[in-house]
Amino acid sequence: MTVQTWELPTTLTGTESPPRPDAPVDVDEAVEFLRLYHTENPDAGCAAHRIAWVRGEIELTGTYQHTSEELAFGARVAWRNSARCIGRLYWQSLRVRDLRAVRDPAEVSAHCVEHLRVAHNGGRIRPAITVFAPDAPNRLGPRIWNEQLIRYAGYRTTDGSVVGDPRYVAFTDAVTARGWRGAGTQFDVLPIVVSADGETHVRDVPRDAVAEVAITHPDHRWFVELGLRWHAVPAISGMRLSIGGITYPAAPFNGWYLGTEIGARNLADANRYDVLPTVARHLGLDTSSERTLWRDTALVELNRAVLHSFEAAGATISDHHTESARFLKHLAKEERAGRTCPADWSWIVPPMSGALTPVFHRYYDTDHLKPEYVVDDEGLRAALEGVPPRVAQTRGDDPYSPLWTYLRTQGAERRSGRRLD
Ligand code: ARG
Repeated sequence: MTVQTWELPTTLTGTESPPRPDAPVDVDEAVEFLRLYHTENPDAGCAAHRIAWVRGEIELTGTYQHTSEELAFGARVAWRNSARCIGRLYWQSLRVRDLRAVRDPAEVSAHCVEHLRVAHNGGRIRPAITVFAPDAPNRLGPRIWNEQLIRYAGYRTTDGSVVGDPRYVAFTDAVTARGWRGAGTQFDVLPIVVSADGETHVRDVPRDAVAEVAITHPDHRWFVELGLRWHAVPAISGMRLSIGGITYPAAPFNGWYLGTEIGARNLADANRYDVLPTVARHLGLDTSSERTLWRDTALVELNRAVLHSFEAAGATISDHHTESARFLKHLAKEERAGRTCPADWSWIVPPMSGALTPVFHRYYDTDHLKPEYVVDDEGLRAALEGVPPRVAQTRGDDPYSPLWTYLRTQGAERRSGRRLD
């Protein structure tokens, strides 16, 4: 069987004017953020003084520095504004690790490993973000190529099928070309790749920093023999954090898993691990017709297995019923605070049993709020295709060679109409 792997839409590189990360910070965006910060933190001192200071700083240097408090607030509010995230009830609890002084690729990847340990916390997963050096007018910050700090390699075999995660076949090829060798199993953890100032560093994640859960089923003992597993911490590293006009291109963050992300997408999608036919066969289901709903039955059993296994392993995980109820609680809280809460129905509604969850039965505000986490084309290309980001191609203090392809910042999905999650 030929497994379809991940392909970026051909429309990805558009005609819009490209972003210039070397451009000075947009003063209006900075001021808007500082006003928000002072409105929500009335004890933080005089807003007018801070704004005047920042205006001066931008005029002199083209950029400005957030205080640690502004950074923490910005990172938390960016989570609060993430329209695709159902888990936002706990946005205020985000741990913010301020590592803005770190930009060297080897140091960045070492701190990413440390992030995984802090986040895993022995199984009681804590939402956390580590913020590395920002982009500045004369120097771009570091960039992590990986889409997440822990992801599995995908190897194309001679018959066209894939061993591992088909989403990362091209990324696996790219790191292999840089000398990395995977063991060739279904679940080889990819190395972390970081670039800054023309230098690229490839680091294997130490085994003891990768918490994984073997998938077993509460009723079916044969399930364990499928050899399925998943990593416990989803740590997104391919998105930029944008606060008050400043971009932090390397700012990996994590929450904990919602079971369906693993059981109804990563292991189930036909272009990912595609295990439903195998599960159905073991369950002895009649797969001769779609109308037996064998896929749906297998999906439920796979998702029971995921939740059961994480719980048995003592790793935090949520189910879609609980998390949907929490999200509505979050909406109500936001409304009481006098804020709108942007939400994207097509991402909030779980990928199974949609109408069984209360989030299905309503619409949401869709306005776009800042600060925010942004996926840009450059990040997607690095994460899915292993295309070096600009910082990997440049050296020293001349990071803007005319050879660069400037890529659009956002909206690849919107323009192509394809979902690129
Ligand atoms: N859906 C992604 C995955 O399966 C993770 C996205 C973030 N999820 C989260 N629960 N914080 O790996």
